[in-house]
Formats: sequence, C-alpha cells, structure tokens
Amino acid sequence: MKKIVISTGGGDAPGLNAAIYAVTKSAYRRGWEIYGSRSGYQGLLNPEELIRLTPEKVEGIMPLGGTILGSTNKGNPFAMPVENLIGEIQTLDLSDRIMRNFRRLGFFCHITMGGDGSMELAHRFAVEKEMPVVGVPKTIDNDLEATQQAFGFDTAVATATDALDKLHSTAKSHDRVMVVEVMGRDSGFIALNAGISGGADVILIPEIPFDINMVCQKINDNELRDKHYAIVVVAEGAKAEEMTKAVCKRTAELGRDRELLGGIGEWVAEQIRQHTGKDTRSLTLGHLQRGGSPTTFDRLLALRFGGAAVRMAEQGLFNHMVALKTPDMVAVTLAEAIKGRKKVPLDSDKLLTAREIGISFGNVELAPR
Ligand code: F6P
Repeated sequence: MKKIVISTGGGDAPGLNAAIYAVTKSAYRRGWEIYGSRSGYQGLLNPEELIRLTPEKVEGIMPLGGTILGSTNKGNPFAMPVENLIGEIQTLDLSDRIMRNFRRLGFFCHITMGGDGSMELAHRFAVEKEMPVVGVPKTIDNDLEATQQAFGFDTAVATATDALDKLHSTAKSHDRVMVVEVMGRDSGFIALNAGISGGADVILIPEIPFDINMVCQKINDNELRDKHYAIVVVAEGAKAEEMTKAVCKRTAELGRDRELLGGIGEWVAEQIRQHTGKDTRSLTLGHLQRGGSPTTFDRLLALRFGGAAVRMAEQGLFNHMVALKTPDMVAVTLAEAIKGRKKVPLDSDKLLTAREIGISFGNVELAPR
C-alpha cells in the first residue's frame, strides 16, 4: 500500500484543515495510507508524533481554523536549535534523520503545506536529499509570487475589513483618528484590500514609502470637509520615507534573537497626534487575522490545492508546488516558487480606484485624485 505524509509549516492560516481534509479524502480513495507529521517536521523526526489520518479522523475539520497537525515557524531541520541536557542551545542538522525515517516508514511522497519558508525547506529536501515532495501554498500575506493567491489571505482580509467596519462608529462618535496595524510582512496586500473595502482614509503599505505630512494633510482635509474622524490602515512592514528599515520588536525564542515586524501603527499614531492635535488611538489586529473559520473562497481554494497535490503525487510530479492560475490549478517547480516575494504592483487598478475614491497613500505621486 502506498503511504504519504502531510505536514503544515510556518504561521498557521485559515484553510489548512480544509487542505488536510482534501488530501486525506482523495488519497484514501486511491487506497493510500496517510500520515500527518506534527508541528512541521516533528513527526518525521520522532515517528511517535505521526498521526494516522483517515476520513473519520478528518470528518468536520473543514471549517475549523488552525491546523489539526500543529505548525511551527522556527523548525528548520537543517539548522534546528536544540536545548542540551545542561540547558545550552545547540544547532543541529537533523535532515538525514528525517530522511532515514521517511524511507524506513516507506513514504513515497511528502505533501508540505506552507509559505515561502516551508517551500524553501521543501526545495532543499528535494534537491539535497531527493525527497519526493509536493508543495501546497498557504499564507495570509499572499506574498508567494508563483500563485495568484494562497489560501488564508481572503479570510485575513475579511477579518481586517470587519474590524475596520466596527471602528468607523467609535472613531466617528469620538471625532478620533484610529490607526490600525495589519499583518502582511513586506507586502501590502492585506492593508490594501481591507483598507479599500473597509473605507479607510489612508493606507500605508511597504511598497510605497510614506511622508507623514501627507498623511496628516489628508486628516486635515477631512476636517475641512466636515469629516472629523479618520481611519488609517498601516501594514506592519510600511516605512516612512526617512526610515531605513521597518519597525520591529525583538524576541528571544529558544535562545535566538528574532525580529518581529510590528510597532509602526503606534509610531504613525504618535506622529498624527503631534502634527494634527487630533485625539488618536492605535490598535494592532495581530494574530486575530490568522484565526477563525476560512471564508468559502479560502475553503474551496484549499480543497482544490489539496486535491491537485494528490493528483500530482499520483503522477510522480515531485519537487513542484500547486499554484492557482485562474481558472486552473497548475504545477510550478519549487525553484520557481521560492524565487521572489510578491509585492503590490504600483500600476494596479486597485491603487487607481483607491485614489479615485479619495484614499491617501501618504505619497505625493499617489495623492487622491
Ligand atoms: O507570515 C504570516 C505572519 O502572520 C506575518 O503576517 C507576520 O509578520 C508573522 O507571520 C507573525 O509571525 P509569528 O506567528 O511568529 O508572530
């Protein structure tokens, strides 16, 4: 009997469970045995952390957020920080151990679901260790260049838009400026889509360095037009023109320093307070954007990706990732999939529309029309 193993890596995203559901159901119909590896590669490192997946086991998981397999964004098996008996952190290459288990357990394919980091790992395993691997793209940031869309993004945008809708009434009641920081890493897709749909006055994205004076000008223009409140959406990776790098917070995880994007919303709010004298509040939506039930769009996309991944495995089309090329599911090489990060195109009709409806990007060239 053919055996496959599935893993979910990186930050979780709504739709992962739907993708696991689709892979399990369609692989089972082919008579294959399916296993899930806990927390990325953990199950392949320690086989007792492998979970047998059956149609019964995945029944009802489709609408659930998160991933029943667990996930991690600090588990690079080629350089894994491991705490030794005396509490020191050592970096070990565990890739050969994973390959030994993979072969010993008789898996013929690994279906890995993740973002750019997971696809990079999958590519290394495919090229350096000859692991037969198929990638499934998920990311709320939507920054994978090789697919028109990854699942998780639509849900994150819906959550952010819903939050903006709710903020309008309180901002208006108090004549306040509300600054909302959203996720997206170095791409502004969540900020742009939610900002336009949620009626923002200003949208700040990493692709367009902003001038805080232009942001304040838009808020002052509102006042002149008798609108005494404003909603400002800031992507976590957005930078003022004078900043050399995005605002980050440092965290120490397993003895290693990590920089996490975040804090630009509060910086923008403080500048607005000082420049306009307006009562201003900031909030960070953070991991709320990663939670909850996937939208119908994400659910369907995840199911389609899962189904396509199994078809690719059946055809022996390894070292590839499934991608959406509307209206089709296509296979792109993992090398292609990890080539570049997708950015908001500056000639996009979304930017044009945003300017036409009066949204400011904090930039002279892209000032509202
Ligand atoms: O890539 C997804 C993402 O949610 C980013 O938008 C964000 O910068 C990052 O992950 C947060 O990571 P963590 O879960 O480690 O806080």
